[in-house]
Amino acid sequence: MREQKTPKVSLVGAGPGSEDLITVRGLRVLNEADIILYDALVSKELLSQVNKPIPKIYVGKRCSQHSFKQDDINTLIVESAFKHGHVVRLKGGDPFVFGRANEEIDFVESFGIPLSIVPGISSALSVPTSQGIPMTQRGISSSFWVMTATKRDGSFSEDLKFASQSATTMVILMGIRKLNEIVNEVSKYRGLSMPIAVIQNGTMKNESCIVSTLNDIKKFKNTIDISKPGIIVIGNVVAGHPAFFEEEIQRVLHSYI
Ligand SMILES: C[S@@+](CC[C@H](N)C(=O)[O-])C[C@H]1O[C@@H](n2cnc3c(N)ncnc32)[C@H](O)[C@@H]1O
Repeated sequence: MREQKTPKVSLVGAGPGSEDLITVRGLRVLNEADIILYDALVSKELLSQVNKPIPKIYVGKRCSQHSFKQDDINTLIVESAFKHGHVVRLKGGDPFVFGRANEEIDFVESFGIPLSIVPGISSALSVPTSQGIPMTQRGISSSFWVMTATKRDGSFSEDLKFASQSATTMVILMGIRKLNEIVNEVSKYRGLSMPIAVIQNGTMKNESCIVSTLNDIKKFKNTIDISKPGIIVIGNVVAGHPAFFEEEIQRVLHSYI
């Protein structure tokens, strides 16, 4: 007779990308899984840290790859729990930051399956930090605002306009494809000399970071690969990045030519 599995789900934050930026608890729970359902931004190196042969199923949603529908993911989580036992739903960064975690939780709980959540290090904080860009800095910025560029219907986020009118550090996720529109909107309120950073593949070996001003960032259009995950940081805190100083010298030199 086949052993009856006790269904259980753990929603685990994988961290921003580098395999050693998962939490200690996250890694422990990962190694207790009977099956792992993982997102697009979860690294292969992290999955290879699981030291038993269990199914690891990709259920990502990136534009450049096959995209799984949320309803199908929800169903797969529940089916996997009844079939395999302990499902680890491994999500990029922190599960509650633009992660649609609540939809998964509601669906799982509607079947009476016990669920636990392991927080993760969000890319929103750790990706700028990995580049030495502080979110807050005494005398420069006393707050930060994590936002997305577009709403569910694809329209431009109103929050972006509100944040632009304050002095907050703006941290924009899922905005790379809308970079031009973001720059045009923010510069209406903050002026063209406002510093901006575009960080892609943050915390990973192929991390890249472009630092410039709202006026000059368009020059880097061809360097930015829109298929890669990226975070846009806008605010005076970016001016502390060493690359901003070099850029500044170039700008001053060019203004004399
Ligand atoms: C659907 S959201 C999920 C965010 C995730 N829950 C978190 O806390 O980091 C995906 C977006 O996060 C950002 N992102 C995630 N990992 C990243 C990384 N390693 N480098 C740059 N941006 C990243 C990108 O803006 C990407 O489009």
